[in-house]
Amino acid sequence: MKIAIILGTRPEIIKMAPVIRELGRKQADFFILHTGQHYSYYLDKVFFEQLELPQPRYNLNVGSGSHAEETGKMLVGIEKVLLKETPDIILVEGDTNSVLAGALAAAKLYIKVGHVEAGLRSYDRNMPEEINRILADHCSDFLFAPTEKAKAILRGEGIPEDKIFVTGNTIADAVYQNLEIARASANAVNALGLKPQEYFLVTLHRQENVDNRARFASILEGLDRVVAEFETPVIYPIHPHSRKMMTKFGLQPRRLMLAEPVDFLSFLQLESSARLILTDSGGVQEEACILTVPCVTLRDSTERPETLEVGSNILAGASPDTIVECSKAMLGRDNNWQNPFGDGTAGKKIVEIVMGGSNG
Ligand code: UD1
Ligand code: UDP
Repeated sequence: MKIAIILGTRPEIIKMAPVIRELGRKQADFFILHTGQHYSYYLDKVFFEQLELPQPRYNLNVGSGSHAEETGKMLVGIEKVLLKETPDIILVEGDTNSVLAGALAAAKLYIKVGHVEAGLRSYDRNMPEEINRILADHCSDFLFAPTEKAKAILRGEGIPEDKIFVTGNTIADAVYQNLEIARASANAVNALGLKPQEYFLVTLHRQENVDNRARFASILEGLDRVVAEFETPVIYPIHPHSRKMMTKFGLQPRRLMLAEPVDFLSFLQLESSARLILTDSGGVQEEACILTVPCVTLRDSTERPETLEVGSNILAGASPDTIVECSKAMLGRDNNWQNPFGDGTAGKKIVEIVMGGSNG
Protein backbone atom coordinates (compact mmCIF):
# COMPACT_ATOMS: atom_id res chain seq x y z
CA MET A 1 0.00 0.00 0.00
CA LYS A 2 1.32 3.42 -1.00
CA ILE A 3 0.39 6.41 1.16
CA ALA A 4 0.73 10.12 0.30
CA ILE A 5 0.85 12.65 3.14
CA ILE A 6 -0.29 16.05 1.86
CA LEU A 7 0.47 19.06 4.07
CA GLY A 8 1.37 22.71 3.77
CA THR A 9 1.31 24.71 7.01
CA ARG A 10 2.75 24.84 10.53
CA PRO A 11 -0.11 23.09 12.37
CA GLU A 12 -0.35 20.34 9.74
CA ILE A 13 3.35 19.54 10.03
CA ILE A 14 3.15 19.42 13.84
CA LYS A 15 -0.06 17.36 13.97
CA MET A 16 0.88 15.00 11.14
CA ALA A 17 4.32 14.34 12.66
CA PRO A 18 3.09 11.50 14.94
CA VAL A 19 1.50 9.78 11.91
CA ILE A 20 4.64 10.25 9.80
CA ARG A 21 6.84 8.89 12.57
CA GLU A 22 4.63 5.83 12.95
CA LEU A 23 4.66 5.23 9.18
CA GLY A 24 8.46 5.43 9.32
CA ARG A 25 8.59 3.01 12.24
CA LYS A 26 6.48 0.53 10.29
CA GLN A 27 8.65 1.04 7.18
CA ALA A 28 5.51 1.86 5.21
CA ASP A 29 5.66 2.94 1.57
CA PHE A 30 4.84 6.64 1.91
CA PHE A 31 5.93 10.07 0.75
CA ILE A 32 5.24 13.68 1.70
CA LEU A 33 3.80 16.23 -0.71
CA HIS A 34 4.24 19.78 0.62
CA THR A 35 2.06 22.42 -1.02
CA GLY A 36 4.37 25.26 0.00
CA GLN A 37 1.51 27.25 1.57
CA HIS A 38 3.91 28.00 4.43
CA TYR A 39 7.52 28.62 3.43
CA SER A 40 9.12 30.99 6.00
CA TYR A 41 11.72 29.07 8.01
CA TYR A 42 9.88 29.47 11.35
CA LEU A 43 6.56 28.33 9.88
CA ASP A 44 7.93 25.38 7.94
CA LYS A 45 11.45 23.91 7.82
CA VAL A 46 12.15 24.34 11.52
CA PHE A 47 9.50 21.72 12.27
CA PHE A 48 10.89 19.17 9.79
CA GLU A 49 14.32 19.61 11.38
CA GLN A 50 13.22 19.60 15.00
CA LEU A 51 10.73 16.73 14.69
CA GLU A 52 13.21 14.80 12.51
CA LEU A 53 10.73 14.27 9.68
CA PRO A 54 11.72 12.99 6.24
CA GLN A 55 12.02 15.69 3.58
CA PRO A 56 9.02 16.12 1.29
CA ARG A 57 9.46 14.27 -2.02
CA TYR A 58 7.60 17.15 -3.69
CA ASN A 59 7.18 20.81 -2.82
CA LEU A 60 4.73 22.70 -5.01
CA ASN A 61 5.97 26.07 -3.72
CA VAL A 62 2.55 27.68 -4.20
CA GLY A 63 3.35 30.44 -1.68
CA SER A 64 0.80 33.00 -0.55
CA GLY A 65 -2.17 34.42 -2.43
CA SER A 66 -5.94 34.77 -2.35
CA HIS A 67 -7.91 31.68 -1.34
CA ALA A 68 -8.71 30.79 -4.95
CA GLU A 69 -5.14 31.39 -6.09
CA GLU A 70 -3.64 29.23 -3.35
CA THR A 71 -6.21 26.45 -3.63
CA GLY A 72 -6.27 26.47 -7.43
CA LYS A 73 -2.50 26.23 -7.79
CA MET A 74 -2.44 23.43 -5.24
CA LEU A 75 -5.17 21.45 -7.03
CA VAL A 76 -3.25 21.53 -10.30
CA GLY A 77 0.07 20.60 -8.69
CA ILE A 78 -1.35 17.88 -6.43
CA GLU A 79 -3.20 16.25 -9.32
CA LYS A 80 0.02 15.96 -11.33
CA VAL A 81 1.86 14.30 -8.45
CA LEU A 82 -1.00 11.92 -7.69
CA LEU A 83 -1.25 10.85 -11.34
CA LYS A 84 2.49 10.13 -11.36
CA GLU A 85 2.72 8.38 -7.97
CA THR A 86 -0.73 6.68 -7.94
CA PRO A 87 -0.94 6.26 -4.14
CA ASP A 88 -3.69 4.06 -2.70
CA ILE A 89 -4.64 6.68 -0.13
CA ILE A 90 -3.79 10.28 0.74
CA LEU A 91 -3.86 11.66 4.27
CA VAL A 92 -4.57 15.30 5.16
CA GLU A 93 -4.81 16.92 8.60
CA GLY A 94 -6.97 19.83 9.75
CA ASP A 95 -8.69 22.63 7.88
CA THR A 96 -6.33 24.76 5.80
CA ASN A 97 -6.46 25.45 2.07
CA SER A 98 -3.84 22.70 1.63
CA VAL A 99 -6.23 20.21 3.23
CA LEU A 100 -9.13 21.17 0.98
CA ALA A 101 -6.95 20.98 -2.15
CA GLY A 102 -5.45 17.61 -1.17
CA ALA A 103 -8.80 16.00 -0.36
CA LEU A 104 -10.53 17.36 -3.46
CA ALA A 105 -7.76 16.49 -5.93
CA ALA A 106 -7.54 12.92 -4.62
CA ALA A 107 -11.30 12.30 -4.44
CA LYS A 108 -11.71 13.36 -8.10
CA LEU A 109 -9.05 10.79 -9.06
CA TYR A 110 -10.88 8.07 -7.06
CA ILE A 111 -7.96 7.87 -4.65
CA LYS A 112 -9.03 7.18 -1.08
CA VAL A 113 -8.87 10.13 1.32
CA GLY A 114 -8.18 9.96 5.05
CA HIS A 115 -8.95 13.12 7.03
CA VAL A 116 -7.15 13.43 10.33
CA GLU A 117 -9.05 15.66 12.80
CA ALA A 118 -12.42 15.14 11.09
CA GLY A 119 -15.76 16.35 12.42
CA LEU A 120 -14.78 19.72 13.92
CA ARG A 121 -17.34 22.50 13.40
CA SER A 122 -17.42 26.12 14.57
CA TYR A 123 -20.72 26.71 12.72
CA ASP A 124 -19.24 30.02 11.56
CA ARG A 125 -18.96 30.09 7.78
CA ASN A 126 -17.14 33.43 7.87
CA MET A 127 -14.08 31.41 8.77
CA PRO A 128 -12.33 29.95 5.71
CA GLU A 129 -11.35 26.95 7.83
CA GLU A 130 -15.02 25.98 8.36
CA ILE A 131 -15.61 25.63 4.61
CA ASN A 132 -12.36 23.68 4.22
CA ARG A 133 -13.13 21.20 6.98
CA ILE A 134 -16.71 20.52 5.87
CA LEU A 135 -15.67 19.89 2.27
CA ALA A 136 -12.65 17.78 3.26
CA ASP A 137 -14.85 15.62 5.54
CA HIS A 138 -17.37 15.07 2.79
CA CYS A 139 -14.63 14.02 0.30
CA SER A 140 -13.18 11.49 2.76
CA ASP A 141 -13.33 7.72 3.02
CA PHE A 142 -11.62 7.51 6.40
CA LEU A 143 -12.65 10.17 8.94
CA PHE A 144 -10.38 10.20 11.97
CA ALA A 145 -12.49 11.99 14.58
CA PRO A 146 -10.55 13.14 17.64
CA THR A 147 -13.52 12.75 20.03
CA GLU A 148 -16.97 11.15 20.29
CA LYS A 149 -18.46 14.62 19.89
CA ALA A 150 -16.74 15.04 16.51
CA LYS A 151 -18.04 11.61 15.49
CA ALA A 152 -21.60 12.59 16.46
CA ILE A 153 -21.31 15.72 14.30
CA LEU A 154 -20.26 13.63 11.31
CA ARG A 155 -23.09 11.12 11.89
CA GLY A 156 -25.48 14.08 12.06
CA GLU A 157 -24.30 15.16 8.61
CA GLY A 158 -25.10 11.73 7.19
CA ILE A 159 -21.60 10.25 7.09
CA PRO A 160 -21.84 6.46 7.49
CA GLU A 161 -20.70 4.98 10.78
CA ASP A 162 -18.18 2.63 9.14
CA LYS A 163 -16.13 5.52 7.73
CA ILE A 164 -15.61 7.17 11.14
CA PHE A 165 -12.87 6.22 13.60
CA VAL A 166 -12.47 7.92 16.98
CA THR A 167 -8.71 8.04 17.53
CA GLY A 168 -7.99 10.99 19.82
CA ASN A 169 -6.16 14.03 18.46
CA THR A 170 -2.59 13.69 17.22
CA ILE A 171 -1.79 16.93 19.05
CA ALA A 172 -1.88 14.89 22.29
CA ASP A 173 0.76 12.56 20.76
CA ALA A 174 2.86 15.57 19.71
CA VAL A 175 2.66 17.13 23.17
CA TYR A 176 3.41 13.93 25.09
CA GLN A 177 6.27 12.99 22.73
CA ASN A 178 7.95 16.39 23.04
CA LEU A 179 7.08 17.97 26.37
CA GLU A 180 9.89 16.49 28.45
CA ILE A 181 12.45 17.34 25.76
CA ALA A 182 11.03 20.87 25.60
CA ARG A 183 11.20 21.31 29.36
CA ALA A 184 14.74 19.96 29.49
CA SER A 185 16.27 21.57 26.42
CA ALA A 186 14.34 24.64 25.26
CA ASN A 187 15.54 28.02 26.45
CA ALA A 188 12.74 30.26 25.23
CA VAL A 189 11.43 31.42 28.62
CA ASN A 190 14.88 32.54 29.74
CA ALA A 191 15.88 33.94 26.37
CA LEU A 192 12.82 36.20 26.36
CA GLY A 193 13.62 37.40 29.87
CA LEU A 194 10.51 35.74 31.36
CA LYS A 195 9.97 33.83 34.59
CA PRO A 196 7.86 30.64 34.74
CA GLN A 197 4.27 31.33 35.89
CA GLU A 198 4.87 35.08 35.74
CA TYR A 199 3.77 35.84 32.19
CA PHE A 200 0.85 35.32 29.81
CA LEU A 201 1.26 33.96 26.26
CA VAL A 202 -0.66 35.22 23.22
CA THR A 203 -1.10 34.00 19.66
CA LEU A 204 -3.43 35.74 17.23
CA HIS A 205 -3.45 35.22 13.47
CA ARG A 206 -6.86 34.16 12.20
CA GLN A 207 -8.15 36.00 9.18
CA GLU A 208 -11.46 37.00 10.83
CA ASN A 209 -9.50 38.71 13.63
CA VAL A 210 -6.51 40.32 11.97
CA ASP A 211 -7.85 41.25 8.52
CA ASN A 212 -10.46 43.56 10.04
CA ARG A 213 -8.87 46.74 11.42
CA ALA A 214 -11.54 47.50 14.03
CA ARG A 215 -11.58 43.94 15.35
CA PHE A 216 -7.77 43.58 15.42
CA ALA A 217 -7.46 46.97 17.19
CA SER A 218 -10.11 45.99 19.74
CA ILE A 219 -8.36 42.71 20.62
CA LEU A 220 -4.98 44.45 20.92
CA GLU A 221 -6.60 47.05 23.19
CA GLY A 222 -7.99 44.20 25.32
CA LEU A 223 -4.54 42.60 25.55
CA ASP A 224 -2.94 45.93 26.50
CA ARG A 225 -5.54 46.25 29.26
CA VAL A 226 -4.74 42.72 30.47
CA VAL A 227 -1.08 43.73 30.94
CA ALA A 228 -2.15 46.75 33.00
CA GLU A 229 -4.84 44.97 35.02
CA PHE A 230 -2.73 41.97 36.06
CA GLU A 231 0.67 43.72 36.01
CA THR A 232 2.02 40.73 34.14
CA PRO A 233 4.10 40.68 30.95
CA VAL A 234 2.26 39.37 27.88
CA ILE A 235 4.40 37.82 25.15
CA TYR A 236 3.07 37.56 21.59
CA PRO A 237 5.14 35.49 19.11
CA ILE A 238 3.58 37.04 16.06
CA HIS A 239 2.58 35.16 12.88
CA PRO A 240 3.90 37.00 9.78
CA HIS A 241 0.35 37.50 8.51
CA SER A 242 -0.58 39.37 11.70
CA ARG A 243 2.66 41.38 11.58
CA LYS A 244 1.82 42.43 8.01
CA MET A 245 -1.73 43.48 8.95
CA MET A 246 -0.52 45.33 12.07
CA THR A 247 1.84 47.39 9.92
CA LYS A 248 -0.77 47.96 7.23
CA PHE A 249 -3.35 49.18 9.77
CA GLY A 250 -0.78 51.25 11.70
CA LEU A 251 -1.56 49.44 14.97
CA GLN A 252 0.98 49.64 17.77
CA PRO A 253 0.12 47.71 20.93
CA ARG A 254 1.83 49.71 23.66
CA ARG A 255 2.33 47.11 26.34
CA LEU A 256 2.67 43.75 24.55
CA MET A 257 6.05 42.08 24.05
CA LEU A 258 6.20 41.12 20.38
CA ALA A 259 8.52 38.30 19.30
CA GLU A 260 9.16 36.25 16.18
CA PRO A 261 7.34 32.90 15.88
CA VAL A 262 9.34 30.15 17.58
CA ASP A 263 10.07 26.46 17.01
CA PHE A 264 7.78 23.78 18.50
CA LEU A 265 9.91 22.85 21.53
CA SER A 266 10.33 26.51 22.44
CA PHE A 267 6.63 27.12 22.04
CA LEU A 268 5.73 24.08 24.16
CA GLN A 269 8.02 25.40 26.87
CA LEU A 270 6.47 28.88 26.62
CA GLU A 271 2.98 27.37 26.88
CA SER A 272 3.68 24.99 29.73
CA SER A 273 5.28 27.71 31.89
CA ALA A 274 2.65 30.38 31.15
CA ARG A 275 0.14 31.47 33.80
CA LEU A 276 -2.51 32.06 31.13
CA ILE A 277 -2.78 31.63 27.35
CA LEU A 278 -4.86 33.93 25.13
CA THR A 279 -5.28 32.75 21.53
CA ASP A 280 -7.37 32.36 18.40
CA SER A 281 -5.43 29.25 17.31
CA GLY A 282 -7.08 25.86 17.16
CA GLY A 283 -3.99 23.89 18.10
CA VAL A 284 -3.07 26.24 20.94
CA GLN A 285 -6.55 25.83 22.55
CA GLU A 286 -5.94 22.07 22.56
CA GLU A 287 -2.37 22.30 23.84
CA ALA A 288 -3.40 24.62 26.68
CA CYS A 289 -6.05 22.08 27.70
CA ILE A 290 -3.59 19.16 27.58
CA LEU A 291 -0.95 21.14 29.49
CA THR A 292 -3.54 22.29 32.09
CA VAL A 293 -2.86 25.95 31.42
CA PRO A 294 -6.05 28.10 31.43
CA CYS A 295 -7.01 29.49 28.03
CA VAL A 296 -8.95 32.54 26.84
CA THR A 297 -10.06 32.18 23.23
CA LEU A 298 -10.13 35.43 21.30
CA ARG A 299 -13.02 34.37 19.08
CA ASP A 300 -16.83 34.19 19.15
CA SER A 301 -16.97 30.45 18.52
CA THR A 302 -14.78 27.39 18.75
CA GLU A 303 -14.71 24.07 16.96
CA ARG A 304 -13.10 22.67 20.12
CA PRO A 305 -16.19 22.66 22.43
CA GLU A 306 -14.61 19.89 24.51
CA THR A 307 -12.27 22.53 25.98
CA LEU A 308 -15.23 24.65 27.10
CA GLU A 309 -16.95 21.62 28.60
CA VAL A 310 -13.98 20.48 30.68
CA GLY A 311 -13.44 24.08 31.82
CA SER A 312 -10.00 24.73 30.34
CA ASN A 313 -11.18 27.42 27.95
CA ILE A 314 -13.56 30.38 27.67
CA LEU A 315 -14.74 32.37 24.65
CA ALA A 316 -13.94 36.07 24.98
CA GLY A 317 -14.67 37.43 21.49
CA ALA A 318 -12.98 40.72 20.65
CA SER A 319 -14.29 43.24 23.19
CA PRO A 320 -11.57 44.68 25.50
CA ASP A 321 -13.79 44.49 28.59
CA THR A 322 -14.72 40.87 27.96
CA ILE A 323 -11.09 39.91 27.32
CA VAL A 324 -10.13 41.31 30.75
CA GLU A 325 -13.17 39.72 32.47
CA CYS A 326 -12.55 36.31 30.87
CA SER A 327 -8.86 36.46 31.86
CA LYS A 328 -9.90 37.13 35.45
CA ALA A 329 -12.39 34.25 35.37
CA MET A 330 -9.84 31.77 33.98
CA LEU A 331 -7.13 32.82 36.46
CA GLY A 332 -9.58 32.01 39.25
CA ARG A 333 -10.44 28.52 37.98
CA ASP A 334 -9.03 25.24 39.25
CA ASN A 335 -7.00 23.63 36.51
CA ASN A 336 -7.82 20.05 37.41
CA TRP A 337 -9.71 19.21 34.22
CA GLN A 338 -9.28 15.97 32.24
CA ASN A 339 -7.73 16.07 28.77
CA PRO A 340 -10.46 15.10 26.27
CA PHE A 341 -8.06 14.65 23.32
CA GLY A 342 -6.78 11.15 24.00
CA ASP A 343 -3.81 9.36 25.48
CA GLY A 344 -1.24 10.18 22.82
CA THR A 345 -1.78 7.11 20.63
CA ALA A 346 -3.82 8.71 17.84
CA GLY A 347 -1.01 8.46 15.26
CA LYS A 348 -0.55 4.76 15.96
CA LYS A 349 -4.30 4.08 15.69
CA ILE A 350 -4.58 6.02 12.43
CA VAL A 351 -1.70 4.12 10.83
CA GLU A 352 -3.11 0.77 11.98
CA ILE A 353 -6.49 1.60 10.45
CA VAL A 354 -5.01 2.87 7.19
CA MET A 355 -2.61 -0.05 6.75
CA GLY A 356 -5.20 -2.56 7.90
CA GLY A 357 -7.54 -1.09 5.28
CA SER A 358 -10.47 -1.67 7.61
CA ASN A 359 -13.07 -0.03 5.36
CA GLY A 360 -12.02 -1.62 2.12
C1 UD1 B 1 -3.18 29.45 7.39
C2 UD1 B 1 -4.54 28.77 7.52
C3 UD1 B 1 -5.03 28.88 8.95
C4 UD1 B 1 -4.02 28.34 9.92
C5 UD1 B 1 -2.66 29.00 9.69
C6 UD1 B 1 -1.64 28.31 10.54
C7 UD1 B 1 -5.97 28.81 5.52
C8 UD1 B 1 -7.16 29.41 4.90
N1 UD1 B 1 -5.53 29.40 6.64
O1 UD1 B 1 -3.34 30.83 7.69
O2 UD1 B 1 -6.22 28.11 9.09
O3 UD1 B 1 -4.47 28.60 11.23
O4 UD1 B 1 -2.27 28.84 8.31
O5 UD1 B 1 -0.57 29.13 10.85
O6 UD1 B 1 -5.45 27.84 5.02
N2 UD1 B 1 3.10 34.23 5.30
C9 UD1 B 1 4.47 34.34 5.48
N3 UD1 B 1 5.23 33.21 5.46
C10 UD1 B 1 4.68 31.98 5.25
C11 UD1 B 1 3.32 31.88 5.05
C12 UD1 B 1 2.52 33.01 5.08
O7 UD1 B 1 5.00 35.44 5.67
O8 UD1 B 1 5.44 31.00 5.27
C13 UD1 B 1 2.26 35.46 5.34
C14 UD1 B 1 2.05 36.06 3.97
O9 UD1 B 1 2.00 37.45 4.14
C15 UD1 B 1 0.68 35.54 3.59
C16 UD1 B 1 -0.03 35.47 4.92
O10 UD1 B 1 0.97 35.12 5.85
O11 UD1 B 1 0.02 36.36 2.68
C17 UD1 B 1 -1.18 34.47 4.97
O12 UD1 B 1 -0.71 33.16 4.66
P1 UD1 B 1 -1.77 31.97 4.35
O13 UD1 B 1 -1.05 30.69 4.24
O14 UD1 B 1 -2.68 32.34 3.25
O15 UD1 B 1 -2.67 31.93 5.64
P2 UD1 B 1 -2.29 31.90 7.17
O16 UD1 B 1 -2.72 33.20 7.79
O17 UD1 B 1 -0.90 31.46 7.36
N1 UDP C 1 3.35 27.09 17.33
C1 UDP C 1 4.75 27.10 17.24
N2 UDP C 1 5.39 28.31 17.33
C2 UDP C 1 4.74 29.48 17.49
C3 UDP C 1 3.32 29.46 17.58
C4 UDP C 1 2.65 28.25 17.48
O1 UDP C 1 5.37 26.04 17.11
O2 UDP C 1 5.38 30.54 17.55
C5 UDP C 1 2.64 25.79 17.20
C6 UDP C 1 1.74 25.43 18.35
O3 UDP C 1 2.44 24.69 19.33
C7 UDP C 1 0.64 24.59 17.70
C8 UDP C 1 0.62 25.08 16.28
O4 UDP C 1 1.78 25.90 16.10
O5 UDP C 1 0.97 23.22 17.69
C9 UDP C 1 -0.62 25.89 16.03
O6 UDP C 1 -0.56 26.44 14.76
P1 UDP C 1 -1.34 27.75 14.35
O7 UDP C 1 -1.76 28.50 15.56
O8 UDP C 1 -0.50 28.44 13.36
O9 UDP C 1 -2.58 27.18 13.55
P2 UDP C 1 -4.04 26.68 13.98
O10 UDP C 1 -3.88 25.62 15.01
O11 UDP C 1 -4.81 27.86 14.45
O12 UDP C 1 -4.61 26.17 12.69
